[in-house]
Amino acid sequence: MRQYMLLAVTILIYIAGTAAGQQEPCLDCHPDKQEGKVVHAAISMGCASCHSGTHSGEKPAPKLISAVPDLCFSCHDSAMVSGTVPHPPAKDGQCTFCHSPHSSDQPALLSQPAPALCGSCHDKQATGRHVMSRFGPNDSHPISGKPDPSRIGKTLSCASCHQPHGGNLKRLFPAASANGLPCMTCHTKISAAP
Ligand code: HEC
Ligand code: HEC
Ligand code: HEC
Ligand code: HEC
Ligand code: HEC
Ligand code: HEC
Ligand code: HEC
Repeated sequence: MRQYMLLAVTILIYIAGTAAGQQEPCLDCHPDKQEGKVVHAAISMGCASCHSGTHSGEKPAPKLISAVPDLCFSCHDSAMVSGTVPHPPAKDGQCTFCHSPHSSDQPALLSQPAPALCGSCHDKQATGRHVMSRFGPNDSHPISGKPDPSRIGKTLSCASCHQPHGGNLKRLFPAASANGLPCMTCHTKISAAP
């Protein structure tokens, strides 16, 4: 009789344990996945929206339900990379070179601040010097830290003047005047005041 009771208790504990396991307490062991100023909205939809399977710190760890970028395109429109002037890292699906899939301290979940991120492949354009290259060899232009007049609520960054996923104009400009440059998007005259 006592043996049966022990067995029943053991089964109850086992069932309780399995139920707890089904809640997938992934964040107990991976709290960093929701730490940062920007948390991907997909996190609140559950780890299972991108990872399949469970584990407790031992291999095999949960795999991705599909490979990047198809994984991203299950929720985001793939038209973002379909411009006639492609940007190779986005066209080639290197989304996670530039974005954390979980959380980040940078806007748009960027893996590092835009000037350093973009400058890791474009060292010659990592400063504002290149913006003014047609105007004067010593001129420079701000590339961060000021409000972006063309995009209310955003800060000036490389992405103010170049479309990071590809576009339809050369140099990935979002818009251009007759001279092919985007200056007038923010400056009604070429002057210091935007
Ligand atoms: C939007 C899709 C997505 C969601 C939701 C997601 N992940 Fe991930 N996760 C990825 C991708 C993509 C990678 C591979 C990253 C890479 O290749 O750099 C990854 C990698 C990881 C890694 C290993 C590399 C690392 O960054 O530490 C861990 C651990 C992880 N995810 C845990 C989680 C947990 C826990 C959750 C739920 C809180 C979660 N993920 C939700 C897409 C996602
Ligand atoms: C009991 C703690 C624990 C729980 C619960 C847990 N993990 Fe992990 N996980 C670990 C440890 C430890 C590692 C190995 C070290 C690391 O990569 O952080 C790991 C690694 C990973 C990796 C990376 C594997 C690799 O090859 O780089 C992913 C992805 C992952 N976990 C996802 C998840 C998801 C999704 C859940 C929820 C279903 C989850 N984990 C639940 C402890 C845990
Ligand atoms: C399960 C659905 C889902 C998947 C899969 C997913 N996302 Fe998202 N993502 C969202 C939602 C929802 C938002 C918030 C609404 C929006 O901006 O579209 C978002 C927002 C974003 C943002 C903007 C964040 C911000 O605060 O500005 C970026 C960047 C992003 N996702 C990148 C990715 C990348 C890269 C992948 C693939 C690794 C991915 N997403 C996969 C659902 C998803
Ligand atoms: C070269 C770096 C880079 C790559 C590669 C990249 N992105 Fe982005 N992405 C950015 C930047 C920079 C922004 C922020 C643009 C801004 O400031 O408005 C952004 C913004 C976003 C947003 C927010 C909405 C929007 O369009 O502004 C989503 C969603 C997104 N990216 C998804 C993706 C996906 C999915 C991939 C892979 C197909 C990808 N990104 C590849 C740099 C990149
Ligand atoms: C205020 C607008 C503006 C900002 C901000 C800006 N750029 Fe540019 N970018 C330009 C202009 C204008 C050109 C064209 C220069 C020329 O040909 O005279 C250009 C050209 C480029 C080119 C193409 C160079 C070539 O030779 O074809 C790259 C790459 C580039 N920028 C990267 C960046 C990076 C990286 C950042 C952020 C660190 C950035 N840009 C910030 C305006 C901008
Ligand atoms: C992983 C490397 C990588 C990163 C990161 C990267 N780029 Fe590029 N980018 C390239 C390659 C490769 C090309 C095509 C060859 C070239 O023009 O240098 C390119 C081309 C460009 C061009 C010229 C497009 C044309 O055809 O006129 C601009 C502008 C540009 N990138 C801006 C950016 C900006 C802004 C960022 C950050 C949001 C960025 N890049 C981040 C690899 C990168
Ligand atoms: C995305 C918006 C944007 C675009 C496009 C843009 N600018 Fe600017 N520009 C600004 C902002 C913001 C400032 C800083 C204003 C301030 O200091 O408050 C600035 C400042 C300047 C200044 C003063 C520089 C200084 O000493 O600080 C000059 C000159 C200038 N821009 C010329 C140009 C030229 C030439 C182009 C085209 C190649 C251009 N801008 C494109 C937003 C832009």
